[in-house]
Amino acid sequence: MTTPDGREGWSNLFLRKGHSVWLIDQPRRGEAGQTSVAGTISTEPSDQTWYTQFRIGTYLNNEFTYNEGSQFPKGEEVLDQFFRQMTPDTAMDSANGDQNIDTTVVAQAVAATIDEVYERTGKDSILVTHSQGGMPGWEAARYTDHIAAIIAIEPGMAPMVDSEDYHALLERKIPVALYYGDYIGTEYTDVPAAGMWAMMSSSADTFTEAYTAAGAVSTIVRLPDEGITGNDHFMFQDLNNDVIADHVEAWIQRTEMASGTRSDAQPDAPASSDGEQSGGTLVVYYSATGSTEAVANMIADTTGGDLFELVPVEPYSSDDLNWTNDSSRVSVEHDNPDQRKVELTAATVENWDSYDTVFIGYPIWWGIAAWPVDTFIEANDFTGKTVIPFCTSTSSGLGQSGELLAEMAGSGDWQEGQRFRSSVSASDVTDWVNGLGLDG
Ligand SMILES: Cc1cc2nc3c(=O)[nH]c(=O)nc-3n(C[C@H](O)[C@H](O)[C@H](O)COP(=O)(O)O)c2cc1C
Repeated sequence: MTTPDGREGWSNLFLRKGHSVWLIDQPRRGEAGQTSVAGTISTEPSDQTWYTQFRIGTYLNNEFTYNEGSQFPKGEEVLDQFFRQMTPDTAMDSANGDQNIDTTVVAQAVAATIDEVYERTGKDSILVTHSQGGMPGWEAARYTDHIAAIIAIEPGMAPMVDSEDYHALLERKIPVALYYGDYIGTEYTDVPAAGMWAMMSSSADTFTEAYTAAGAVSTIVRLPDEGITGNDHFMFQDLNNDVIADHVEAWIQRTEMASGTRSDAQPDAPASSDGEQSGGTLVVYYSATGSTEAVANMIADTTGGDLFELVPVEPYSSDDLNWTNDSSRVSVEHDNPDQRKVELTAATVENWDSYDTVFIGYPIWWGIAAWPVDTFIEANDFTGKTVIPFCTSTSSGLGQSGELLAEMAGSGDWQEGQRFRSSVSASDVTDWVNGLGLDG
């Protein structure tokens, strides 16, 4: 797929970055224009309106006049191609100004596509939405568990805090990035749509404030703040579309969504070293925002084991956990391994000797075990114990996290372990535990 002037579009650019790319036509538009709902299509041209609305420029004195510094490719032929890419909505009475898109139909179709991608590849998808497609993108989170992240390019609106979409996103802790181009804000007096876009983009601030305070990730990228200027509503077609694709890719890498992989492989059943599994089971965990805790509770329920929560003397606040801020506590600790010593309210367990099997749970932080567990590992002798790591993460796998802990412990029979997504179902956890053969 190319830009209106024939350069490579994002589908190619992201393929080159190693992603599989799936293009979705939303129902009742483009190649998916077939519909069971009747509508009327207006024949009235609207090129000038959209040129203005999309902040490419203004139609002045019978001429398309680009905004100053615009990165939109120039020339009559380019505009001709651009306007030809527009396709009418079917299933509505557009002749009468009806823009009543059935968001739920679109969201469910997007979710079904993402589920199918998961079935075919075993991978969660990074959903990239644009403009009006933003709304069904948020809603899609209600209907699938296989969205690794959402990158919304100038979405119509961010989700309203406390809406059903908001809760679905938060429950699954789906990382979100919202990208906005240039010419947004009332200071752009020559750009007629600048004020309207300022209003739309301010919904990103309200959403992000609440979403991050609740422990999830939302990053707002206003390109001019990053030194990237001249972009309109179609930043993926602009002359610097490669620069913006690089920016998006850096965000993906930072949030470790690149693999989108879910590690569903069953670990080896723990070897029963001396044929005895009669000793007690202990489920030790650290959880900053409750996801790992939920899994720990499920494991304890299934095994009848005891729970032991690792609690830092100085717990991590949501500001401390804001890894998008370079100077937050986790970011500083991440950058300075010698500052990762986290004192715990208790690092040893009563009756440690009575436990043969120890589950150790933690969230993944930057691909490894959240470091508050290190203090527990260093304080205990695991000789003679079967140790089973488990973790929760948004998309990263278990990686080397268990091996690194085993190395740190220097004793114990460490199993491969298991990663769960942040909002895993109880049945997935129970199935895994039952498959370990602990009773055998
Ligand atoms: C500082 C920090 C770093 C994170 N790094 C990753 C990561 O590298 N990969 C990932 O998939 N999720 C990452 N996450 C998301 C958490 O692993 C995920 O939300 C986890 O389920 C949180 O568990 P908890 O609620 O028990 O704290 C990170 C979260 C935080 C706060």
